[in-house]
Amino acid sequence: MTPNRADQIAVALDTSDRDQFRHWCGVFGPRVGLLKVGLEAFVRWGPAAVEEARASARVFLDLKLHDIPNTVAGAVEAVSDLGVDYVTVHASGGAEMLRAAAEAGQGRVRVLAVTLLTHMDAESLAGLGVEGPPEVLVSTWARLAADSGCAGAVCSPHEVARLRSELPRSFVLVTPGIRPAGAPSDDQKRTATPAEALAAGADLLVVGRPLTGSDNPRAALRRLLAGLSPRKLARRSG
Ligand code: C5P
Repeated sequence: MTPNRADQIAVALDTSDRDQFRHWCGVFGPRVGLLKVGLEAFVRWGPAAVEEARASARVFLDLKLHDIPNTVAGAVEAVSDLGVDYVTVHASGGAEMLRAAAEAGQGRVRVLAVTLLTHMDAESLAGLGVEGPPEVLVSTWARLAADSGCAGAVCSPHEVARLRSELPRSFVLVTPGIRPAGAPSDDQKRTATPAEALAAGADLLVVGRPLTGSDNPRAALRRLLAGLSPRKLARRSG
């Protein structure tokens, strides 16, 4: 069965302006698979932001939790009551923290482990005293997340193909850093177009500014989805 590409898009609602947030929920909610509620909105209005997004779509709560296992488990437990599909934690919290998060979410919210943030590259890693290519670190952390019971991982489009070949098919791969051809990369470093990310094996694409920063967000989404039509994708791979 051909997947519905719109279902594979999560729009990042990165704003602390409530009117803007509400407007984006109305524009994108009925047209994509998920709305991503991030720190800006959640820190400002908490669960009310989730409730508002849930009125028009499934929700991905991107809290990027990173703390000792007991604290993260408690936070995931609290998230479980909000009715969201996904919540994120940082893979760098380690196996014990990832296991605690996955167990706390069991059956109620799916835990995704953020590997290496997409604004980081080999140079930024070296600045932290971590040597070696980003893809090796991402691969190690994604494997750790899978072995710890997480539902999936967040990685850049550059690492998707490798992770797809290394991890079970049921492990969900989510990629931010999505930029349609010609769009500015902003602060993202490891980017790809939506078609490239899907071809590499991503299950879910997180797209923010290329849609929310557009003068006409609805038209920007229409263009993005048109670029993912089966005919366009076939032409690109043929
Ligand atoms: O605007 P843009 O498309 O760059 O937004 C990307 C979104 O994905 C942001 O909400 C950001 O917090 C999130 N994200 C990311 N890199 C990760 C994980 C999440 O950019 N590794």
